[in-house]
Amino acid sequence: MIELRQFSDSDSLATGAARRFLGALESRSPRPHPFTVALSGGRIATPFYDALVAQTGGRRALWENVEFFFTDERWVPLDHPDSNFQLARERLFEPLEIPLVRCHALAGGPDREFAAAQAQAELLARTPRSVQGQPILDLVILGMGEDGHVASLFPEASAEVVESRKVYLPVEGPKPPPERLTLTYAVLAEAREVWVLINGSGKEAALQESLCENGRTPLARVIRSRERTQLFTAVPVETGGDGRSQFRSPESGIRT
Ligand code: 6PG
Repeated sequence: MIELRQFSDSDSLATGAARRFLGALESRSPRPHPFTVALSGGRIATPFYDALVAQTGGRRALWENVEFFFTDERWVPLDHPDSNFQLARERLFEPLEIPLVRCHALAGGPDREFAAAQAQAELLARTPRSVQGQPILDLVILGMGEDGHVASLFPEASAEVVESRKVYLPVEGPKPPPERLTLTYAVLAEAREVWVLINGSGKEAALQESLCENGRTPLARVIRSRERTQLFTAVPVETGGDGRSQFRSPESGIRT
């Protein structure tokens, strides 16, 4: 099942997604283990983070007991301008004064295998596990590329990557910088909530393909692996009865 929310532009998309995220934090039932979220990079991340900070205002307590992870990372130093961690630190963690001990970077260390193993251990230590032994994240925030990739799961990925039961994998991809680390499909399948923030030109075809039952994009694969996936899009999409789409627009799913 897909919940499709359409927005008129990236700012209203970022504002709408931030509002839902803060609403989810506000309505949390008390529990011992933290709320875990995995963040992505890409151009939508900046307005999304800015909207989270703006809407938080003085309600800093909303972020207590939240642990931050990353869906993927570029294999660059943590202070590199291309680092997803660096972007989140600058635009989210520092403005909200989130202790970095709760922000689990995905890079650093002697090599990508070591970084993947370390991040896997940190994630597994803070989440319940599925029957398959995968960490169950509370919320995964994805972007989508022009080829329908999510995280650093690209259309050209090998069967080994696609079928992997690991938590994080070192991969290479067509989007620079090429050397990356990514959550696997197996983890994305088990997350309680997956939200995909889709903005930017040239993505109409990939989004349309991803809405189809037999879509061939990485996003389509994630959608098929899950009960429900929520799409927040400022990219126009045909929602007519083409018989091949499998989605429902929630009551608020009109173009806003
Ligand atoms: C990354 C991202 C990647 C991104 C998409 C969309 O590290 O590059 O995690 O998956 O979310 O490529 O990026 P844009 O929103 O910039 O198109």
